Amino acid sequence: MKQFEWLQTEYSELEKAGLARHLRTVMSAPTATINLDGHDVVNLGSNNYLGLSTHPDVITAAVEAIQVYGTGASGSRLISGNSKLYTTLETNLATIKGAEAALVFSSGYTANLSIIPVLARESALILSDALNHASIIDGCRLSRATKKVYQHCDVEHLKTLLAESSEFKRKLIVTDGVFSMDGDIAPLRDIYDVALNYNAMLLIDDAHGFGVLGKDGGGTVAHFGLQDTDIIIQMGTLSKAVGGLGGYVAGSSALIELLVNRARGFIFTTGLPPATLAAADAALKIMNSSPDLQQRLLKHAETLKTTLTKIGYTLLPSQTQILPVVLGEPQRTTDVAKALFAEGVFAPAIRPPAVPPGTSRLRVTAMATHTDTEIQKAIDGFACVTHLASQR
Ligand SMILES: Cc1ncc(COP(=O)(O)O)c(C=O)c1O
Repeated sequence: MKQFEWLQTEYSELEKAGLARHLRTVMSAPTATINLDGHDVVNLGSNNYLGLSTHPDVITAAVEAIQVYGTGASGSRLISGNSKLYTTLETNLATIKGAEAALVFSSGYTANLSIIPVLARESALILSDALNHASIIDGCRLSRATKKVYQHCDVEHLKTLLAESSEFKRKLIVTDGVFSMDGDIAPLRDIYDVALNYNAMLLIDDAHGFGVLGKDGGGTVAHFGLQDTDIIIQMGTLSKAVGGLGGYVAGSSALIELLVNRARGFIFTTGLPPATLAAADAALKIMNSSPDLQQRLLKHAETLKTTLTKIGYTLLPSQTQILPVVLGEPQRTTDVAKALFAEGVFAPAIRPPAVPPGTSRLRVTAMATHTDTEIQKAIDGFACVTHLASQR
């Protein structure tokens, strides 16, 4: 078919540049060691940071919900898909986030695509961190607002852009709380002060801070002790530390009421399966009552960070469970990932467009459920492949 020849050409170009991606098959539960493509490997590539997706209480809650409510929501939430499981989960999320109300979406990706166009329309200005997640970038595009990108975590640059933009009445600053590919934490206190000074709203994507930072895993806003729902809107996901699926936003009741009426990714899609909602709620309870999980996760991350640095790897200055081991070019990064895999360690290679060109990296993530033996096996694996990593 001539019409589709371009498909093969485009794919070949990706392959030539070392940027082609391939699906792999996980043949086990997403635990600290997984079976990937038939091989048992220490899992340094999971967002199931606290191991809650396989926690017995979470599984029981999911099974019970299926038995009572069946497998699907069977309707969009505004028609017939809004069970009381949603109400419970949203009440609990709002409490953990210190917000008046919360709203759950099908995924974190959908949440950003839905929230941003409601907050910022064509006449608004969005100020977005240069390393924000793709879902924020896509949400900004959908909004058709004017977007200005400030340099990563650079509060002075943010101020300069705002000072140049007095013609905009409605302004939205948007940032990851913990950056998904870098593991650093946004300087939220300073950004909050800027938002106050310039009369801007502040949207924080806490996908990777929730469950990890702050008291009871409340997230990045809790970590900084910021509580101001007049200015701050927190979004996040139930797909990382919570171990399930779904996105959420937490803020004022007025915000949530408007989103229910305006957020297209909320209105025009089917509700989440009951098991997913019940599992998330059970996971929140564990997250809230088990600070040891948070501590163990960050302890493992610290061990990996210091040891990998000591044996010669270049890590970006992460303060969290996300440890970027920067290797530069895509091919070297996939070569090191393959060699590690042969040593029984899975660390995913992250390449452009997920990260800027020249900064391809292994995105190493710890899990609270890793044993000390698994962490040591991971370190030994890295030690075996240093020669590949340092060929510059
Ligand atoms: C910062 C950030 N925001 C949003 C998302 C999207 O979340 P979800 O996977 O729940 O769609 C991700 C997931 O990778 C993320 O890292």
